[in-house]
Amino acid sequence: MALQSAIINVMKQAARKASIRLKRDYGEVDQLQVSQKGPSDFVTAADVRTERILKEELTRARPNFGFLMEEAGEVKGVDPNCRWIVDPIDGTTNFIHGIAHFAICIALEELGQITAGVILDPINEQLFWAEKGQGAFLNDRRIRASARTNFSQSIFATGIPFNGRGTPFDHETSLKEIGAVMSASAGIRRFGSAALDLAYVAAGRFDGFWESGLKPWDIAAGILVVREAGGIVSDLTGQDKMLDTGSIVAANPVLHKPLLDMIFSARN
Ligand code: IPD
Ligand code: CA
Ligand code: CA
Repeated sequence: MALQSAIINVMKQAARKASIRLKRDYGEVDQLQVSQKGPSDFVTAADVRTERILKEELTRARPNFGFLMEEAGEVKGVDPNCRWIVDPIDGTTNFIHGIAHFAICIALEELGQITAGVILDPINEQLFWAEKGQGAFLNDRRIRASARTNFSQSIFATGIPFNGRGTPFDHETSLKEIGAVMSASAGIRRFGSAALDLAYVAAGRFDGFWESGLKPWDIAAGILVVREAGGIVSDLTGQDKMLDTGSIVAANPVLHKPLLDMIFSARN
């Protein structure tokens, strides 16, 4: 059993509490698929409600911390050095379509560094988590990035821009990247949750992941989980500026550079 600090317990408990209602909401989405209006409004309400529960729980435990949340934006805390970065549902499109692949994400940022991260897949009851310097875990089991070294035998996840997300240039660039990686690898996956993509890299399921146009709440927890699992994470220029640039390349230590180089040359 992994050693757990008080703070990681607070984060796990908040995620689990929020997931109870979210699971119920997910169960109702299937019914709403057939209505003409579709489930979008309902899902927006689920997003907001989940975020509110997370905020309440985290505030109760650490009243002075600030927040950066997808729905409510930034809330400054009394303590300027500590803030929670929260995505109530990462993988909303999956949620809307009744696809059981989405996650609740919480990261703790202290003095600009991510020091703890939790990614909870509520339907499959998989809780990925890490604390700086303490390793990465799936539920109670230690996880590690894959040991695969052969690019052609490796699989990579990505996110693909869509109607309403990314410019025509971004769409073309994404196709170039995919073209390069698909010809050189054992396959590409687009599962629809950047947080779970990172968690799967940490668990050695995917050998790597890349995407652009992301927000801090999509990746903050996952960056730490991958690093604590022994993986390498950078932005698309190889720097440690993922939260500023919104671009990310994460992979096991052998495949990170080849993946980064391949994407870089496909784009340029
Ligand atoms: C999205 C997911 C998706 C990624 C998008 C994100 P959301 O987050 O992480 O995998 O490709 O760029 O916006 O909107 O479901 O919270
Ligand atoms: Ca997200
Ligand atoms: Ca979201």
